[in-house]
Parts: sequence; structure tokens; C-alpha cells
Amino acid sequence: MKGVVLYDTTFGNTQKVAEAIADALKEGGHEVGLYHISEAKKLDAADYDFVVIGSPTKMNTMSFAMRRFLGKFKGEGWRGKPFFAFDTELVDVIEKGGDSAGEKIQKELEERGMTPLVPVFKAGVAGIKGPLVAGSIEKAKKHASNFAEALG
Ligand SMILES: Cc1cc2nc3c(=O)[nH]c(=O)nc-3n(C[C@H](O)[C@H](O)[C@H](O)COP(=O)(O)O)c2cc1C
Repeated sequence: MKGVVLYDTTFGNTQKVAEAIADALKEGGHEVGLYHISEAKKLDAADYDFVVIGSPTKMNTMSFAMRRFLGKFKGEGWRGKPFFAFDTELVDVIEKGGDSAGEKIQKELEERGMTPLVPVFKAGVAGIKGPLVAGSIEKAKKHASNFAEALG
């Protein structure tokens, strides 16, 4: 299948996770485009069978740029398309179960009729600028492989 991995990032951590996810999906036999949301000006549902999308967590939710970007997922073409959302967030927020970007993205895309095939993936960062906590890249790849399998 053909899909797209879309991300926002300020310090590069979410980009690293997005790259790992794209690599794992390619290893799973899928054709994958990888774009920062500023590069994905035209997004046509007819071009993609699935979507993976992630944002850094800012103020307990997704970035402003990601919120605006989700407006592109309108129209019937996106209905039923499989996806999963991911985010980066402070590792202690993950441990405490605080609000983060991933669930908000998942909720918005579900409201637009898209289908989350696997749960939100959360990667922890040790501080505002990172780094990602040890093992995050491997976990991201595993999560993406599970999604690739669920795609069939
Ligand atoms: C303005 C601002 C607000 C933030 N708010 C949160 C937050 O509410 N919860 C959280 O876990 N992390 C928060 N963070 C930390 C970010 O999640 C972290 O900077 C981000 O994951 C790094 O990803 P990036 O390298 O892709 O930009 C915040 C960071 C900034 C700069």
C-alpha cells in the first residue's frame, strides 16, 4: 500500500520518530512519503491508502501548526482511511498519564471518519529540546510494524 508519514517538529525529536516510523513501514513492504507538514501543501486522499501523523506536545495538546494542518483532512475521500497518531512529550508526563498531542490528533481524525488501526504512540523526551529517551526509536519501529501488519 501507499501511505504518508506527516510530522511537525521544533527541535527535531518528532522528526526522528517520524523517520523511524517511515523506515519500518518501508521494511514492511509499503511505499511511504515522509513530509514535514510545511512541505505537504497539497494533500489528496486519492494518493494515499494510509496516514501516520505526529506532533510535539505543546501545552497538553498538538502544535498550532498541526491543528491548522488537520483542516486538510476534510471531504469524503478520507473516510475510512486507516491511520495512527504519535507524539513526543516529556517522559514524566507519559508516566503520569497527562494529556498530550497524540490523543487529540486521533480524536480529530476519527471525527473526520478516519480509522485508528493501532493506539497512539508516545515517545518521551528527557527535556524540552530532547533527547528522546533510550529505546524510543526501537519502540516507534515496533509500533509501525504492528500498524503495517494490521494494514494487511
Ligand atoms: C511551548 C512548549 C510547551 C510544551 N508543553 C508541553 C506539555 O504540555 N507537555 C509535555 O509533555 N511537553 C511539553 N513540551 C515539551 C515538548 O513536548 C518537547 O519540546 C517536544 O516533544 C520536542 O519535540 P520536537 O523536538 O519535535 O520539537 C512543551 C514544549 C514547549 C516548547
